[in-house]
Amino acid sequence: MANPKIIVAIDGYSSCGKSTLAKQLAGKLGYNYIDSGAMYRAITLYFLRNHIDFSQEEIVRANLQNIHLSFEYVEAHHKSEIHLNDENVERYIRDLIVAEKVSEVATIKEVRQFAVAQQKKMGNRRGIVMDGRDIGTVVFPDAELKIFMTADLEIRVKRRFEELEQTGMPATIDEVKHNLAMRDYIDSNREESPLRKAEDAKTLDNSNMSRDEQLEKVLNWVAESIELKKLAQVH
Ligand code: DC
Repeated sequence: MANPKIIVAIDGYSSCGKSTLAKQLAGKLGYNYIDSGAMYRAITLYFLRNHIDFSQEEIVRANLQNIHLSFEYVEAHHKSEIHLNDENVERYIRDLIVAEKVSEVATIKEVRQFAVAQQKKMGNRRGIVMDGRDIGTVVFPDAELKIFMTADLEIRVKRRFEELEQTGMPATIDEVKHNLAMRDYIDSNREESPLRKAEDAKTLDNSNMSRDEQLEKVLNWVAESIELKKLAQVH
């Protein structure tokens, strides 16, 4: 019997390495990787570019109708990248200007409903790894494997700083630290689907783990989840 396909839901704090792990996993399993945060970032980019006052519910609702998001595979980068109204905006959404506003935008109920409806559809055929803040709790409460990632703030700041340096986007350590702490706070304390560990999620603290160690551990969890699904299908 062929292995059944599962959904891997990865949630956790900002800059824990969720997307690195999710990409590696999707590559190993031949699954689709979806970066749900990219959707909130692209919506934020649209609001900023068009000077939308997103504190007004009606204005937000009207503007969401003009936003079309899609993930398209980019051969040269070996991954799906987010497109905002058919423009590849992957490199703009990582900018600190977007990072500074995205958590606020992600608290808006209409924005979350808009993004979550699309995310749920993407899981219809399973065989997907999605990372975010509410994937195991709201988007795919029935995911076969849920992972909650965490790492010490200092370590996350260092990783994020190095990442920004590599992409040539200037930021100081203090700016990065402030931004991460602020996003963690807003993400965990908002009213609409705050960042929470799902009851049945496995915790992965990678503060002192190499990428290879982490991947090995998670691949074991995946194998277990697939075995459990097989058993459930037989009985
Ligand atoms: O994963 P990220 O840093 O690219 O996410 C950007 C922001 O979007 C983050 O501050 C919280 C929000 N987000 C969310 O609320 N729900 C998700 N499923 C993914 C991201």
